[in-house]
Amino acid sequence: MMKSDQCLPPTRTVTPKVLYYGTPVVLLTTLNEDGASNITPMSSAWALGNQIILGLGEGGKGLENLRRHGECVINLPDPSLWEQVEALAPLTGTSPVPALKAQQFRFEKNKFQAAGLTAIAAQQVTPARIAECPIQIEARVVDLRMTGDPVRFGIIEVEAIVVHAHAGILISESHIDPLRWSPLIYNFRHYFGLGAELGKTFRAEI
Ligand SMILES: Cc1cc2nc3c(=O)[nH]c(=O)nc-3n(C[C@H](O)[C@H](O)[C@H](O)COP(=O)(O)O)c2cc1C
Repeated sequence: MMKSDQCLPPTRTVTPKVLYYGTPVVLLTTLNEDGASNITPMSSAWALGNQIILGLGEGGKGLENLRRHGECVINLPDPSLWEQVEALAPLTGTSPVPALKAQQFRFEKNKFQAAGLTAIAAQQVTPARIAECPIQIEARVVDLRMTGDPVRFGIIEVEAIVVHAHAGILISESHIDPLRWSPLIYNFRHYFGLGAELGKTFRAEI
């Protein structure tokens, strides 16, 4: 039975400029033509088992790199890294900067240096890992769907092949401690950390 409207929070239909309703930030590293790694800050990413789905702008360097070389590292920053993430925000590895981005973005070849981050070698893929990120997932492209429209987004499915984690957030080789790991959340273009734990699901093992 429907509750009376008087008991419920009132709603309005709205047209939000963005629908970034709060997802973890990823620093995606991909391989440039010259063998160096580019970093794309992104937040449209989610995991299903070992499959991870990424949404990337079709005018960006990250997607261009993945189409040429289907390997990447999904580096997950924690809230302490938000200023480094924001230092990357106005940059693109695409040169010349696409007309649609030219007013707000500038070209940067070395994003590691621009953000004060450290590149370290991955085990199974060529793009570098970001040492400061507590979780780093090496992955390979399985499927990639483009729209052909530079203002829209490609959808990329990758498969995780090696997962690295800082020792300090681990309980064991198979469990990351949810009390010590916290993602950096992108919530309607503002950065947040997690609040206190509310509870756990019936399948939680720790
Ligand atoms: C926190 C954050 C999240 C973002 N999320 C995405 C995203 O999910 N997908 C995307 O294509 N761009 C996203 N962007 C914008 C890209 O980072 C931006 O277009 C950048 O220039 C891409 O760099 P690249 O061209 O070197 O790949 C995000 C930016 C920030 C700062």
